[in-house]
Amino acid sequence: MGKLACIVLAAGMGTRMKSARPKVLHAIAGRTLLGHVLNVANQMEAAKVCVVAGPDMDDVADEARSYIDDVLVAVQSERLGTGHAAKMAKDQLKGFTGTVLVLYGDVPLIRSDSLADLVARVDANTPVASLGFEAVDPSGYGRFVIDDEGFLQAIVEHKDASDAERAITMCNSGIMAVEASHLWAMLDKLSNDNASGEYYLTDIVGLTVDAGLKVSVSTCSQTEVAGINDRRQLAAMEQVLQNRLRDAAMMGGATLVDPNSVYLSADTVIGRDVIIEPDVIIGPGVTIGDRARILGFSHIEKANIGAGAMVGPFARLRPEAVLDAGAKVGNFVEIKKSRIESGAKVNHFTYIGDARVGAKANIGAGTITCNYDGKHKHFTDIGANVFIGSNSSLVAPVKIGEGAYVGSGSVITKDVPSGDLAVTRPKQIMVSGWATRLAEKRAKEGS
Ligand code: UD1
Ligand code: CA
Repeated sequence: MGKLACIVLAAGMGTRMKSARPKVLHAIAGRTLLGHVLNVANQMEAAKVCVVAGPDMDDVADEARSYIDDVLVAVQSERLGTGHAAKMAKDQLKGFTGTVLVLYGDVPLIRSDSLADLVARVDANTPVASLGFEAVDPSGYGRFVIDDEGFLQAIVEHKDASDAERAITMCNSGIMAVEASHLWAMLDKLSNDNASGEYYLTDIVGLTVDAGLKVSVSTCSQTEVAGINDRRQLAAMEQVLQNRLRDAAMMGGATLVDPNSVYLSADTVIGRDVIIEPDVIIGPGVTIGDRARILGFSHIEKANIGAGAMVGPFARLRPEAVLDAGAKVGNFVEIKKSRIESGAKVNHFTYIGDARVGAKANIGAGTITCNYDGKHKHFTDIGANVFIGSNSSLVAPVKIGEGAYVGSGSVITKDVPSGDLAVTRPKQIMVSGWATRLAEKRAKEGS
């Protein structure tokens, strides 16, 4: 196989999304639609990728760059059809020789295997290959007119199709692989003399056949090439993708007690013998090590959970939370940008932000790292084997030395040296017999 370039059509605003954001920037499984497509382009090892965006879509370009540093961006200022959109990439891809794969920015579930099969069909006599699918309801799609030998004769758009052509159920996904110089030559020949008054990319099929060359067909499932036009379709596709991710996690050796209530992200990495209880939400950027347990109702994003660690129930791990092997984070605990070292325990009602909790340290219930002074964030360093008594506030920046104790209810503003005890609460006052006297007084009043 020669070199590959991808054109990603993403100029549509997606009116039916009823959104201020371009359609391709909506997300499923924690990744934008565009991100899913660019991820597949990366899997295909495309030498060049050009995203065709609409005017004023800087955010689309920015998102594209977050997946591919040197992504090319072309702007289609007027929406004159898919053929016109593809042509916008011509200048950007100047000098490229090889196969050009046209992808749609709003078709995120396409798999690299299907694309590889399509691309492999392009050769000197067959400069075009189109990806089709058997449609449950073909209405609205371009239809594949296929000859006796299985080659494509034409793609006829629904609006332009005769009754006989509308009866065809093999439909066009829109995804196409074309030899580069052939693509540019054919795009120059397109006309907009059709029912929509648009330049159809699909017309290059008929033009190729007219030139005495062949167009090959590859097929895949309808789900893979489903596009998104509105929020209901976005939600439906989320479910399809979630099921794929859940299956992959379970096939990889993780137990999902109630898979339908666990939400994963496209990039979630889950080890073996991990147990995930019901109602867990995992956002982007999460890695879960072998044997870790995530108990119910936990919410995790951009966090790294080490082997054998325990999280939840009702725990929240925010970006840059790192749990080393065997660390424990319990109920109603929030961890942000902090490392909980091996064997440390943060079991109940606690906020740990911008901190290190040393190995085997024990953080009592209700402990708060006061990391924010209204303007800046400060660091709390808690050494190994430290014991923080319940209901303590650690006012950062502050350091609790290895093995030190902090008495319950303390507000710690100064560093605590290793091996010391710090207590800041007032001394307890004892009033002998006070409660008994009160009870006696009340008994008299009552009689
Ligand atoms: C297209 C195909 C049709 C196929 C269907 C599959 C053509 C002429 N028709 O039809 O055969 O069955 O997709 O869903 O290609 N876009 C631009 N600029 C434009 C027009 C479109 O960037 O000027 C982008 C859209 O954002 C979208 C994609 O191209 O991502 C497809 O456009 P759309 O209008 O949805 O094409 P269909 O008419 O559905
Ligand atoms: Ca469409």
